[in-house]
Amino acid sequence: MSQGLITAIYIIAAILFISSLNGLSSQETAKRGNVFGIIGMFMAVVATVASSQVSGLGYITIAMIVGALIGVRLALKVEMTSMPELIAILHSFVGLAATFIGFNSYLDHGVLIGTAQSIHNVEVFLGIFIGAVTFTGSLVAFGKLSGRVKSTALSLPGKNWINLSAMAISAFLLVSFVGGDLGLTALIIMAVIASLFGIHLVASIGGADMPVVVSMLNSYSGWAAAATGFMLSNDLLIITGALVGSSGAILSYIMCKAMNRSFVSVILGGFGNETFVQNTDVDQGTHIETSASEVAETLSMAKNIVIVPGYGMAVAQAQYPVAELTKILRSKGKNVRFGIHPVAGRLPGHMNVLLAEAKVPYDIVLEMDEINDDFEKTDVVLVIGANDTVNPAANEPGTPISGMPVLSVWNASKVFIFKRSMGVGYAGVQNPLFFKENSEMLLGDAKVSVTAILKNL
Ligand code: TAP
Repeated sequence: MSQGLITAIYIIAAILFISSLNGLSSQETAKRGNVFGIIGMFMAVVATVASSQVSGLGYITIAMIVGALIGVRLALKVEMTSMPELIAILHSFVGLAATFIGFNSYLDHGVLIGTAQSIHNVEVFLGIFIGAVTFTGSLVAFGKLSGRVKSTALSLPGKNWINLSAMAISAFLLVSFVGGDLGLTALIIMAVIASLFGIHLVASIGGADMPVVVSMLNSYSGWAAAATGFMLSNDLLIITGALVGSSGAILSYIMCKAMNRSFVSVILGGFGNETFVQNTDVDQGTHIETSASEVAETLSMAKNIVIVPGYGMAVAQAQYPVAELTKILRSKGKNVRFGIHPVAGRLPGHMNVLLAEAKVPYDIVLEMDEINDDFEKTDVVLVIGANDTVNPAANEPGTPISGMPVLSVWNASKVFIFKRSMGVGYAGVQNPLFFKENSEMLLGDAKVSVTAILKNL
């Protein structure tokens, strides 16, 4: 394929990627956005492989077939609730690829002299640094999200000094590497430091802040890809990496704002975080249990109803009976709306995707800020598998979720909480909501409970 044609295809692919991001910004256009992304990526891969610079097509084809088969199998098999860990492990591959390409590009870069050589060395160094941090950081995130590693924040003594020292040594190594004093040794030492730095950075971030870490690693993987683009002089990789890097950074910032967290603190591995006292041993009083028939009876008398879904709705796959319940209640003239917390579930927009899948109308699905003031005028709230996102302990100091805005469901006349036990949520904080006078627990699997209510309505 001629260089002119490849450039033209790259430009079209870049436009498709930008249109894809634009499409993904709203639920109505998300599917179209995905299609643009798939077409863009297909064109980009074909043009790259067909370039005259690429040799060993046989090996590449075999690798692509094996990769595609693994990818298709994973995508078909993965549960929606396991998506964040899949995303985390995929980010780790991007980081590892950037690290390998960095070393490769150093060892085999053709003839470079003077400034070009120095610029190339900076690209190589930064590519390996970002790649190694992304690789190990994403592996730790994968471990935390899949429950293989404890999700509580690691707090080593002098953790900020450890991070600062890693940065300072890496900066020193960068100078000696670009100056040509240490060569490959500097790269290897830096790769080890960056790998440990990545582990420490993500391990230091606790339960409730993990959503930000996932999008932050997404951003890092983008910058790692952009660095690879510079090393390989591939413009499309630079554009794609920058798009992923900047959109991930914007998402991290939005999530930090929604959770009332300092962006700088989270990206620096929980810099300055206080030590938390868990409230799980505190006696919260007694709770009241209810039954599906009692909930159905209260619902039939209510006018204003708000449903607050959380991770448990995803685990139970309760979105379909929840959508059915919504339809029936609306047909009886009741005002039914949904209140969605920005970090409900395990990935950004998790609840919105589930509700859209079950065909709940978009216009009754409201963000936390849009609905939080309305709970005082609400007759009944159904909390379906949500916990941290409705926990009033977030308004008190000293817990891992302190300072995070939550849905103030307790202001409603009646709150029914659907979960299987009195256990804690993701952040490990006991929830005083369950023990309030106007709260009643409907214990059991959320899908079974909602289906039982449907039968009683
Ligand atoms: P969580 O605090 O995770 O609580 C979910 C609740 O669902 C649990 O208390 C669990 O109680 C219940 N549950 C589990 N399976 C159930 C089932 N089959 N039927 C009924 N209930 C079930 O949920 P949340 O309020 O959505 O908060 C999300 C948390 O995850 C936040 O701390 C957030 O920071 C974190 N997080 C979010 C993300 C993103 S991007 N959204 C990513 C990573 C982490 P039982 O075990 O007693 O049933």
